[in-house]
Amino acid sequence: MNKYQNIVVLTGAGISAESGLATFRSSNGLWNNHRVEDVATIEAFQRNPAYVHDFYNELKPEILKSQPNSAHLSLTRLQHESSAKVSIITQNVDTLHEKAGSENIYHIHGQINQSVCLNCGYILESWNDINTETICPQCQTCGMMKPNIVFFGEALLYMDKVEKLLRNCDLFLSVGTSGVVFPTASFVQTAKYYGADTYEFNLEITSNNLFFDHHIVGKAGETLPNFVDNLLKKREN
Ligand code: APR
Repeated sequence: MNKYQNIVVLTGAGISAESGLATFRSSNGLWNNHRVEDVATIEAFQRNPAYVHDFYNELKPEILKSQPNSAHLSLTRLQHESSAKVSIITQNVDTLHEKAGSENIYHIHGQINQSVCLNCGYILESWNDINTETICPQCQTCGMMKPNIVFFGEALLYMDKVEKLLRNCDLFLSVGTSGVVFPTASFVQTAKYYGADTYEFNLEITSNNLFFDHHIVGKAGETLPNFVDNLLKKREN
């Protein structure tokens, strides 16, 4: 464990699957029931903002009541019990890492409980429905609130920080992501280039497997806690 001082964990929808939240590309995934073009692009929002608001509003109650699983909790344990700096880069818009007590979390795709005012940039935190009638608390403009979700074609959030984390990490863990969306799918390549040991935790070996040194196949709720236990044990020896 002492070997690693800067650990970066990239998480995707798969880490939240055992908390009951749908992933995107599985057989009953979100993208099987909704077209990306209708709910996850800036054109869709400009074309039909009410429909896009409804999509994200409908996800909120289930996400709000979901609880972190042992995979989320194992990352919190790693942060609290190891001497390493552990940063979490998540593609997930749920708040399960926060509910698990983790820190240093970077939501590069935004958060479901946030909306942003397209007029003044104010970020409104709320689990209530947001719609085309919502008034911005800061500039009082009506109808300019957008879900603070990064749509396809929009820039990811926190990318300056992410670049620095990837260049300085000595251990890179990818947990529950299919690795098909770029530039996120290339994070492992950057980490590897700068010398990190790289692990993929997934139900299967994904197509994005060139730069992973290790593939730990199984449910993250089982494999990640085991991995963290072993990492912390090595610290004690
Ligand atoms: N344990 C580990 N991995 C799991 C588990 C589990 N219990 N359940 C599912 N997985 C894996 C699947 O095998 C799959 O590879 O999680 C991955 C989920 O892949 P996606 O559904 O594509 O989700 P994700 O990789 O997070 O998508 C990335 O794409 O559409 C955009 O914005 C969306 O953030 C999302 C991004």
